[in-house]
Amino acid sequence: MTDRRSPDAFATRPWATSPPPRDPDMDAVPTMLAQEERDFYHWLTSSWTQDAGDVVDLGCYLGGSTARLAAGHAAGRKMSTIHAYDRFTSDERTKERILYRQGIPPFEGNDIFPISQRLLAPWSDRVRLRRGEIEAIGWDGGPIELLVVDAFKKADLTDVMTDQFYPWLIPGKSLIVHQDYLHWSQPWVAAQMELLGEAVTPVAFARDDTVAWLVEQPLTPAKLTAARVAALSDAELLDLLAQAEARFEGWGLAPRLALSARALRANPGARMAWQMKMPG
Ligand SMILES: C[S@@+](CC[C@H](N)C(=O)[O-])C[C@H]1O[C@@H](n2cnc3c(N)ncnc32)[C@H](O)[C@@H]1O
Repeated sequence: MTDRRSPDAFATRPWATSPPPRDPDMDAVPTMLAQEERDFYHWLTSSWTQDAGDVVDLGCYLGGSTARLAAGHAAGRKMSTIHAYDRFTSDERTKERILYRQGIPPFEGNDIFPISQRLLAPWSDRVRLRRGEIEAIGWDGGPIELLVVDAFKKADLTDVMTDQFYPWLIPGKSLIVHQDYLHWSQPWVAAQMELLGEAVTPVAFARDDTVAWLVEQPLTPAKLTAARVAALSDAELLDLLAQAEARFEGWGLAPRLALSARALRANPGARMAWQMKMPG
């Protein structure tokens, strides 16, 4: 039998070959995730985690990612806690693009917390909502088995959140799931993973943008200092992206990383996702 912790556990892509059954509570929560990413998140908590630590969802917006993690967690009868972090606010454009198109009736204002609470109520015994700026809340301590990241939108805050959460990952037992690994607007995410070197191994890609990494070694303060991204020059980031491109050649993902490099060249010095303009 394949060891769940081994990269081989991901090789057959069980989340894609046996997607979870329909769940009206889960499907009712709007999300920015693509279908394969939704199925992957459900599989991670239903089948992969073993209650070795908690589940952390950094940047859950309304809770779409959290709902998929929570439904899997319930299906797998897991006992850990899922911590879902966000400001729980939304601008009008995102309300229209995500919420209204996925069935939420139009509403006034930018506060989406009450809607999240209501939609995530079926899993309130396993989900803890952490409202505010992630870097201000931080982590209370205790092992993290699954760290899902969709909040590394600024290079400087990437370093701050990394120092807060990565030290609690368990070597050989934890995954970092980067929802934006392949998104051209955040090249520092791929750069960070290159800088972590042999401490992490990529184990899965889920369309559109997610790459999951197994933590192989303790993420010590020295390793995290060496993996800081905010002070890297464009040239250093481009070198690391080239390294990532070579690493993912066999996965068919090199063109995606090449696009991230083109985006950085087209937006010199940009270190915030929203400053990046799509390269022509
Ligand atoms: C792309 S959205 C998340 C989508 C979500 N994972 C889903 O499945 O639909 C990114 C979220 O990260 C949150 N975020 C980014 N940086 C943050 C920070 N420093 N503190 C709190 N929330 C943050 C934003 O509020 C936003 O809701």
